Amino acid sequence: MLLKLHKLCGKHERYLSTSLAASQSFRKWYQQLWTTKRTNMPPYGHFTQIGDPVLRDRAAVVPAECVDSKEVHAIVDQMVHVLRKYDCVGIAAPQIGVSLRIIAMEFRRSIKQDLSEASYKARQMSELPLTVLINPKLTVTNYTKHKHPEGCMSVRGFSADVERYEGVKISGVNRQGAHTELVLSGWNARIAQHEMDHLDGKLYTDHMDRSTFTCTCWEAVNTKSGRVEIPFYK
Ligand code: CO
Repeated sequence: MLLKLHKLCGKHERYLSTSLAASQSFRKWYQQLWTTKRTNMPPYGHFTQIGDPVLRDRAAVVPAECVDSKEVHAIVDQMVHVLRKYDCVGIAAPQIGVSLRIIAMEFRRSIKQDLSEASYKARQMSELPLTVLINPKLTVTNYTKHKHPEGCMSVRGFSADVERYEGVKISGVNRQGAHTELVLSGWNARIAQHEMDHLDGKLYTDHMDRSTFTCTCWEAVNTKSGRVEIPFYK
């Protein structure tokens, strides 16, 4: 950690403040997120974007004694708030600038309305109630791979085909610290694999089919003579 701090000193100040250094107590680290003079500190109300060092760090384990704390609850609440605000299906804590092993997933019925029945079926989509997992662990239960277009709110405005396993088992603890285990298949298994990658500093662009990397608004760029913007806020 010392080497890392030395290397990054001055260059990525925010990165330093969002990483849980081994020498810091969780509470002390959390406190400085809120007491600093900076105007916008994590947990953010927006998604961090590719290039942000927080998305490349291996997120820290949440200490067991801190799972059911007001600090972790506030981070989880903010994750759920951002997940729903941006109308997406999964979020990992580094995506709001917090380098901790926490994910939230939710596949709401309303998302189905924006998709054709054919693609909903082809992608093996199904509803998934809000699931928060702290310190999650994933094991593959079905090694059949499926390739589908995938996006990420931290790679805003793009998508690409990504291969994912068909079935996984994911376990961790919930907000109250109770052991939680889920068996997922199809699209929900994909969401779990995608969010787990975030905790290890990986993005889908690391293992996508590069030839399929697509700007999601490329057609609008043509029809609107280039007058198209990708918003990072909502
Ligand atoms: Co993502």
